[in-house]
Amino acid sequence: MFDLVDQYQRKFSYLRLSVTDRCGFKCVYCLPNGYVAPPGKEPDLSSDEIRRLVTAFATLGVSKVRLTGGEPTIRRDIVELVHLISRIPGIKKTALTTNGSRLKELARPLHQAGLTAVNVSIDSLDRKRFSEITGTDRLEAVLAGVESALSAGFETVKVNAVLLRDWNDHEVAHFIEWVRDRPISVRFIELMRTGNQGDFFNYRHLTAGKIQLELLKSGWIQNVKHTTDGPAVVYRHPQYQGTMGLIAPYSRDFCKGCNRLRVSSTGGLRLCLFGEKDESLRPYLTDDSQHDELVARIQTLVMAKPISHHLHEGNYGNTWNLAGIGG
Ligand code: 5AD
Ligand code: SF4
Repeated sequence: MFDLVDQYQRKFSYLRLSVTDRCGFKCVYCLPNGYVAPPGKEPDLSSDEIRRLVTAFATLGVSKVRLTGGEPTIRRDIVELVHLISRIPGIKKTALTTNGSRLKELARPLHQAGLTAVNVSIDSLDRKRFSEITGTDRLEAVLAGVESALSAGFETVKVNAVLLRDWNDHEVAHFIEWVRDRPISVRFIELMRTGNQGDFFNYRHLTAGKIQLELLKSGWIQNVKHTTDGPAVVYRHPQYQGTMGLIAPYSRDFCKGCNRLRVSSTGGLRLCLFGEKDESLRPYLTDDSQHDELVARIQTLVMAKPISHHLHEGNYGNTWNLAGIGG
């Protein structure tokens, strides 16, 4: 077993793998006009390619894989993918990020297939606002999906809400109420600028500071953060079963604790979410016999992982939207 370490001594144990760039939602900050396949798009990775890819990362010490999209549950073979990934030696956690639209029926089969965690994106608990933000009137189905995940046996369900000025920043109290008797971990994420947003970012971006004050004022206590915890600062409250969290990609030192690598649905290794270009691993995924070559290639590329993104300078790399790479 090797360790995957970069030149800044960051250790990578976590792979975020997009299994498709397609999505049926039209979130205003992501796919405002709905999904359109980019011209000349290669097919998404097959389950054999995914098996070879994850096996190589597992050899390199990766123990957690998160399946993202687009919307991963659009793939017909999503349950089989979870089954095969969770059985690869070395993989201890298999997680999924979803918009929740198919979670009601999929939560149980996914859990049985070996899924250990599920994150659901819910930007508003108000039906009308939800449909304005996502372009779909599916809030009820998504909430039913969360309940289904809780009863399927997932210990906690994480819910991600992108913070949008004047649209959902007044809903914090509503989210708090929702987690009173549910083991749900809500996380407000600061909106990130991508290439397709135009002026939207300037109108809607809000830093997490205001929400932080609101939480502290109503008695929420910040958890001590460990280096392996991921990017969220989490708050708990003795009277609530769930937790509230904040993810602030624009905060100082956000990249210092980065423990993740990303692969796009066509097999491109993206070293930083806001990096300049993907390095295709696909040529190394055709046959099991390429395992050693693939492992060596990944190690070489990871050494070149940049120290930080350049969002502060308004530079979002080649990140047009997050649908292809899943956030
Ligand atoms: N800024 C912040 N979060 C985003 N997501 C997608 N695009 C953006 C953006 N520009 C989030 C989704 C979901 C996760 C997959 O990424 O809302 O929670
Ligand atoms: Fe789909 Fe997620 Fe993008 Fe919304 S944010 S359009 S759910 S990929």
